[in-house]
Amino acid sequence: MKPRVFVDDLSQLRLTFAKEFETQAMEVIARREKCIIALPGGSVASAFFPILATLAVDWTRIEVFWIDERAVPPDHPDSNVGLASRLLLVPARVPPARIHRMHGELPDLDQAARRATDELKTIAGDPPHVDLAIVGVGDDGHVASIFPSRPGASTDSSANTRGTKADQPVIAVYDAPKPPARRLTLTLSVLANAGLVIVAAFGASKAQAMRGALDQSDTATPVAELLRRAPSSLVLLDRAAGLS
Ligand code: 6PG
Repeated sequence: MKPRVFVDDLSQLRLTFAKEFETQAMEVIARREKCIIALPGGSVASAFFPILATLAVDWTRIEVFWIDERAVPPDHPDSNVGLASRLLLVPARVPPARIHRMHGELPDLDQAARRATDELKTIAGDPPHVDLAIVGVGDDGHVASIFPSRPGASTDSSANTRGTKADQPVIAVYDAPKPPARRLTLTLSVLANAGLVIVAAFGASKAQAMRGALDQSDTATPVAELLRRAPSSLVLLDRAAGLS
C-alpha cells in the first residue's frame, strides 16, 4: 500500500507522530494485550522521544526493541539505547523487563546478533512481527544500519555476514559507511513486516533519497525498498526533506 505522507514543520510532525503512535499502541494492546515496538537512533530519536515520553500509553504492555545499535557500550555517547534511556525510557519509567536492547558492547558482534535474534523471536515470533517500527533515513537512503548494497538489504538470503544465518532477523554489520563501522541491525525483511512503519527524515540532505523512494524513481535504496514492501507506512518529512 502507498505510504501516507506528511510534510510539515517539526513541531507539527511531532504531534502527528504522537497521535499515530498512541493510536497504534492502544489498538494493538486492546487486541493482543501487548505491543512490540522498535526504536531508531539519530535525529528521529532526538526529535520524537521527548514527546513519546509524555504519552498516556501503558509502558508495562509495550515491548521495546531497537531497529539498530552501534557497537559500543550502552553508556557510550554513540549508543542508541543510551540516547533512548535519557529521552524516553527513564522519563517514561519503562519497566526494565520490557527493554530488549542489542548488546553492542560484546566483542563478538555475531554472538550479539544471535542473542538479539533469540530475544526478538521469543517475544515477536518467527519470523518476527513488530507492531510499530520507527525509522530514520540517511542521505544515501539507508535505514537502520542497512546501507545500499550491504548486508541486510533486499532479500536477506543473498548477503549476510560471517557467523549469522541467512534468515537471521538481526545481523552484524562490519563496514557501515556511517561511523561507527561496526553495528547491529534488524534486516529489511523484519522492518517491512512491521504492522506500521513510521519513516521520518529532516533536512535538505535527505530530500533526494526521499523523493526517489516516494515516487520509486530510485528503487536501489533501502528506504525505497522498505516503502515498497511495507503493507502500512507513514512518512513524516520536514519542509526541507519534503522539497520537490
Ligand atoms: C543509527 C540510525 C540510522 C539513522 C540514520 C539517520 O543508529 O545511526 O538508526 O539509521 O536513523 O543514519 O540519522 P540522522 O537522522 O541522525 O541523520
